[in-house]
Amino acid sequence: MNAGFQSWLQTEIQHLKDQNLYKVPKILESPAGGRVKMNGKEVINLSSNNYLGLANHPKVREAALKAVEEWGVGAGAVRWIGGTMAVHDELEKRLATFKHTEAVLVFTGGFTANSGCIPAVLTKEDVVISDELNHASIIDGVRLSPAEYRKSQGWVYAHKDMDALEDCLRRAADKGFKKKLIITDGVFSMDGDIAPLPEIVNLAEQYDAFVMVDDAHASGVLGDKGAGTTSHFGLYGRVDIQLGTLSKALGVMGGYIAGSAPLKEWLINRGRPYLFSTGHPPMVAAALIAALDVMENDPEPMKRLWDNANKWKAALTAEGFDTMGSETPITPVYVGDEGKAQQMERLLWDEGVYALAIVYPTVGLGKARIRTMPSAAHTEEDLAEALEAFKRVRDKLS
Ligand SMILES: Cc1ncc(COP(=O)(O)O)c(C=O)c1O
Repeated sequence: MNAGFQSWLQTEIQHLKDQNLYKVPKILESPAGGRVKMNGKEVINLSSNNYLGLANHPKVREAALKAVEEWGVGAGAVRWIGGTMAVHDELEKRLATFKHTEAVLVFTGGFTANSGCIPAVLTKEDVVISDELNHASIIDGVRLSPAEYRKSQGWVYAHKDMDALEDCLRRAADKGFKKKLIITDGVFSMDGDIAPLPEIVNLAEQYDAFVMVDDAHASGVLGDKGAGTTSHFGLYGRVDIQLGTLSKALGVMGGYIAGSAPLKEWLINRGRPYLFSTGHPPMVAAALIAALDVMENDPEPMKRLWDNANKWKAALTAEGFDTMGSETPITPVYVGDEGKAQQMERLLWDEGVYALAIVYPTVGLGKARIRTMPSAAHTEEDLAEALEAFKRVRDKLS
């Protein structure tokens, strides 16, 4: 092994530790759910994106097991080379119907869908205009493109600030870019607020731009049966590119791009993670079809998700916690100071609640919070117990 390289690793790791940015994942020793066993301890899990409880749903499990019997465990090739099985094809058709779009292309992750789609639809004659709180996978996708996109060049607008967006669009028009892409999270992953998509779409139409929305946290949460923000705002046919994940509310794994048939054709030919990486095992696609069946036919999980989310937010607010204007189940509990948020996470863990502190640089300096995610998998008792833990921890800290 190269001594210089190993020593560089050690130095950088120590640097992370010194800045309190070093992460050690806890180990889940039970299936995903409202109450889990983690690192040998039973805890209420408030840090999972398993919004609808589908990650361990009996019908989804059964579909995965059946698919192993029928299809084996691997696709055997990159999808365009011969790794597209009938289940992959069926999943994409089902998703397109669900999203009310002409077509859907599935990638192996939401991250991969962003990093595959964004550079594929841009050239060096184009510009990308982004919300400052967009997710890391959007940022990385944009960085892979040859378009102009930098904050220093003025192409990142203040969070949800439509005047700032319009200013970007005006400047972009003056500069004569060939294509202008506006890109935003549908639901912002750390704050839980919703993008003003109707205003964004209106501005895009006014300034001849096209729109991409990342609905990772809106899929299964907002809109008709969980179809996302485009459905929530009634904007069918007016958003060019919709990204969804299959790993959060749908409970399995993957990401997809929903849009026009030519968009799908283009990404099959130019989306690099699709072109150069093997697709999902067939059991993943089959499990996702079963998860979609549940979402489309059983309104109960989505209702429970929202009941739990509304009650959780109201209970926190009544106790004086600041949930930072969240409009969705993602419920941040504002702390401010980084060290205090991390101490709060540790004390909550001692109380039997797993809820992660989110600190700089994931969020701005001095804007640390505990990010909580109530879900359909939680019972009333889980949330009542968690609330008592939050109150006790606050008392200890103050
Ligand atoms: C807004 C957003 N986009 C994309 C992703 C990536 O999705 P996946 O976990 O399916 O790769 C995430 C994951 O946290 C996300 O929050």
